[in-house]
Amino acid sequence: MILFDTHAHYDDERFDADRDAVLSSLPEHGVGLVLNPGCDPETSCRAVSYAETYDHVYAAVGYHPENIEGISDEAVEAGLKEIEVLAAHPKVRAIGEIGLDYYWCKEPAERKRQQEVFRAQMRMAGRLGLPVIIHDREAHLDCLTIAEQYPNVPKVFHCYSGSAEFAKQLLALDCMLSFTGVVTFKNAKKALEAIRLIPIERLMIETDSPYMAPEPYRGKRNSSLYVHRVAEVIAEVKGLPVEEVARITTENGKKFFNIP
Ligand code: NI
Repeated sequence: MILFDTHAHYDDERFDADRDAVLSSLPEHGVGLVLNPGCDPETSCRAVSYAETYDHVYAAVGYHPENIEGISDEAVEAGLKEIEVLAAHPKVRAIGEIGLDYYWCKEPAERKRQQEVFRAQMRMAGRLGLPVIIHDREAHLDCLTIAEQYPNVPKVFHCYSGSAEFAKQLLALDCMLSFTGVVTFKNAKKALEAIRLIPIERLMIETDSPYMAPEPYRGKRNSSLYVHRVAEVIAEVKGLPVEEVARITTENGKKFFNIP
């Protein structure tokens, strides 16, 4: 069984003590592929360096909506240029993570700024022929509106947190939906309903490490070693063997990120 953790942040300081040990041990534990997205120019650069070091690691580069907070427009613009240069690296397979995060951001002008940076990166992905990894926290409708405006850019909604109804709208736009260890939590009813509705060909699995550790590791540092928990829950909901879910979600991820 080979699993693909399509979203993990190994640039996080919580991996400083054992990053190499964790990353190099993944294939022998059944995690054959990892995609590390960036959240700003610096973490994007680090994502590329891990992709250069490990055959089984790929990178995405992007400016996360939370990471532009407190950064001047000029600095964000310069950062986007750096990100576009990094995107030319052969192991960069997406622009991400990008999107909207309205959880902390209540100010209309700041939300508008997030939308502008999101759109700029959708255009970048279109220019470069790359897919995008979308972060949508409490911003479902605005994310949908922007997603609709770039029909030719392949999209995955990562750490999917919407309803089954909203999932239908995203499926109609050909989006992929990706789930984390949140599906193992007691209050995951909404996520399980969405999984029930989404065809398995549209599902991807991820950890969002070091965040979102699944049960029974909730509260601990997460790593790709726990991504099998997400596959297990999907297998249960779909009534499929976990090996089959692993095989299909890995194929889905390879196809989406254009990995041979
Ligand atoms: Ni993330």
